[in-house]
Amino acid sequence: MKILLTGGAGFIGSHTAVALIENGFEPIIVDDFRNSEPFVIKNIEKIVGKKITSYSSDIGNKEEVKNILQKENPIGVIHFAADKAVNESVVNPMKYYQNNVLNLINFLEVIDIAKINSFVFSSSCTVYGVPDKIPVKETASIKPAFSPYGYTKQVGERILNDFFKSLPSSSLTLLRYFNPIGAHPSGLIGELPIGVPSNLVPYITQTAIGKRKKLTVFGKDYDTKDGTCIRDYIHVVDLANAHVASLKKGLESKDSIKVFNVGTGKGASVLDVITAFEKVSKHDLNYGFGPRRAGDVPKIYSDNTLIKHELDWDAKFSLEDCLEHSWNWEKNLIKFKYKSAKKQD
Ligand code: UD1
Repeated sequence: MKILLTGGAGFIGSHTAVALIENGFEPIIVDDFRNSEPFVIKNIEKIVGKKITSYSSDIGNKEEVKNILQKENPIGVIHFAADKAVNESVVNPMKYYQNNVLNLINFLEVIDIAKINSFVFSSSCTVYGVPDKIPVKETASIKPAFSPYGYTKQVGERILNDFFKSLPSSSLTLLRYFNPIGAHPSGLIGELPIGVPSNLVPYITQTAIGKRKKLTVFGKDYDTKDGTCIRDYIHVVDLANAHVASLKKGLESKDSIKVFNVGTGKGASVLDVITAFEKVSKHDLNYGFGPRRAGDVPKIYSDNTLIKHELDWDAKFSLEDCLEHSWNWEKNLIKFKYKSAKKQD
């Protein structure tokens, strides 16, 4: 059973490719490697012990995508291909509208939806903005987006909702990720930030290994237990398994639209993450406090009851596991040659 993964060489896509194979599916990766690296495909192959079908194509290229679809005939799609840096989206919003919205529309125009029984979309908890109630449920109201990136996820959800409502026999699952971290326990695949990382965990591991001098904790006066922001950090392998569970459910139900939070249901502060990292890496991290980062939500974590009940899914990895795997990955990275390694600053 072939499943098309757009952006399948990326952080979450690569782990999902592995999880699909472990569950008897055949991933077909389409990725133009603008934010990922060809060695990732080789490393997926090392993990699973078989060859992977992959195409180096831009998902917005209708002709190429049409040909791939005709050749491969997938029964499901997981759509990861998108840009995801919040700050960059403020500086360069058109890049985000082009890649995350226009390319989604282009893609929907060429897929033969009659043949795609299950479509899973990478969404984000960013769609909730600053939630009124925590833990946040899927039924929470969608607030005005903080950034163009957040808005592209809201619009993407809306486009897909409208599109799938008009179709009688395909199912759509929108997965709202909380904060994906960690790496594959093999140390062969993980996150590859381009240039200076904007996310917390790659910044921590790069500081510990000496690529960065010091981590700045953004804000220490939030109304939280230790004054730093609270997030729900989810291991990327757990997140990958949530995609497989969603895809399977969609294939069974054929005509449904579902929305799930994918998080652990637990909040951790920035200082909790630092403490856990210091424990597993046995490193004293060089960090200090700085001002709040514009646009940061003080506190958000998921209510994951729905996905637990409907998909029989749960997060298996602890925060310590996540950080141990992220650290292993950072230490392994030296072995791989990749373009983003050259753009460290
Ligand atoms: C946000 C989005 C998330 C999206 C992600 C993409 C929300 C709630 N979350 O994650 O949906 O997928 O962007 O990048 O909108 N921090 C520091 N120092 C650093 C870096 C981060 O203190 O150098 C802190 C941040 O202030 C924040 C926490 O670490 O409190 C996590 O930040 P980050 O990893 O960037 O993720 P979010 O901004 O939560």
